[in-house]
Amino acid sequence: MKEIKILLKERDIPRKWYNLAADLPGKIEPPLGPDGNPISPEMLAKVFPMNLIEQEVSCKRWVDIPEDIIKILLRWRPAPLRRAVYLEEYLKTPARIYYKDESLSPAGSHKPNTAVVQAWYNKKFGIKKLTTETGAGQWGSALAFACNIIGLECKVYMVRISFDQKPLRKLMMQVWGAKCIASPSDETNAGRAILERMPDTPGSLGIAISEAVEEAVSDKSGKTRYSLGSVLNHVLLHQTIIGLEAKKQLKIAKEKKPDIIIGCVGGGSNFAGLAFPFVYDKIHGERIKIIPVEPTACPTLTRGPFAYDYGDTAGMTPLLPMFTLGHNFIPQPIHAGGLRYHGMAPLASHAIMDGLLEPRAYDQVKCYNSAFIWSKTEGTIPAPETSHAIACVIDEALKAKKEGRRKVILFSYSGHGLMDLMGYEKFLSGKLSEYHLPESDLKSSLEAIKKFPKTKRQRERGNR
Ligand SMILES: Cc1ncc(COP(=O)(O)O)c(C=O)c1O
Repeated sequence: MKEIKILLKERDIPRKWYNLAADLPGKIEPPLGPDGNPISPEMLAKVFPMNLIEQEVSCKRWVDIPEDIIKILLRWRPAPLRRAVYLEEYLKTPARIYYKDESLSPAGSHKPNTAVVQAWYNKKFGIKKLTTETGAGQWGSALAFACNIIGLECKVYMVRISFDQKPLRKLMMQVWGAKCIASPSDETNAGRAILERMPDTPGSLGIAISEAVEEAVSDKSGKTRYSLGSVLNHVLLHQTIIGLEAKKQLKIAKEKKPDIIIGCVGGGSNFAGLAFPFVYDKIHGERIKIIPVEPTACPTLTRGPFAYDYGDTAGMTPLLPMFTLGHNFIPQPIHAGGLRYHGMAPLASHAIMDGLLEPRAYDQVKCYNSAFIWSKTEGTIPAPETSHAIACVIDEALKAKKEGRRKVILFSYSGHGLMDLMGYEKFLSGKLSEYHLPESDLKSSLEAIKKFPKTKRQRERGNR
């Protein structure tokens, strides 16, 4: 009988996180301040606590996980590595499909892996309140959960379209004691300015980030900080526990290595968490195809340039070197709310520039079709974000069948879709259609970054 659940003992939970910044072959370009010069850690001090800033700028390969954090992570980790045998049988593929099941955390996704860590470091630094943004509501609920168990106040700016589409996520945040409001809101200068220009906007992650950062830095007591659920180096670092566990589990399953690794990407954290420990192996000669998957409605990696851009809409963050669609980009309200972000993690962006990753884009109709195949074979209902990874897994498994090759596919099952059934309802009633970002929209959105400083690679190679 094939083993379908590969479990680690609690004592086998990884004790260190892996930092890809130590190993990327190309030099990492620094974030820039308003004067166009690299920012110093002190310049971030009003936004993040210094202990997390130290992780953000660190190039140390391994970072110890404090014992107190291990204790908290053990509430739901190690996460199972599962084999999708029923999907394999349905597809009649010789491929072996494994996935890290991140849907079993208290909030239902990978997001608590960093939420509890960030809350813990903030508390240790003497912070009393965290502000944040949320797209699909997964991150907001993860941070609400983390602040509740660690003892911090929590305020979440939720992108308007998700606030309307996913009222249950808002309730989860309230159960855990957080305050959740729709963004853009009239509680911040950034929100009020957007509402004046675009009163009916569905909102975007970029706008919600501006609001949450503004609230944190304008607290005169100095006891509020901002927390981000993706994109930044320290967030990706915390998520590497996923890939580090998977490595141990593949060994138990007697697999030498994965041939293909797949994850959906919004800001890049679940993908990076699974993939980066294997990117290390690839840098050191292993043959692994590593695919980040994004929506065709928000094609940052497949159609955007690698350039300096703000992480938010109002320009409150430093300029980050990353793939971007332009900070003013407002994606179509597709149901994968967590993938509607204009930028991408700088570390993942650099890995692409170094030729280590092969990004791909899928439209939402193909993704929902894949989610249905998954639910009818494996049984669970994936988050719409996760369905992007599943669509790619199915493509790769069918390719392996065509080629008659016994590939090992590993992917990140980043979350369940039990709070996202409205999207499924729209799909079932035929109200969702394919959407590919028109070239003219992309061009006009990129106008906003034309005059920004150029990355070294843009200067050397010319833009893509
Ligand atoms: C279930 C799920 N998967 C993936 C993502 C995308 O985020 P990231 O790219 O940071 O993993 C989100 C974001 O909200 C999410 O909720």
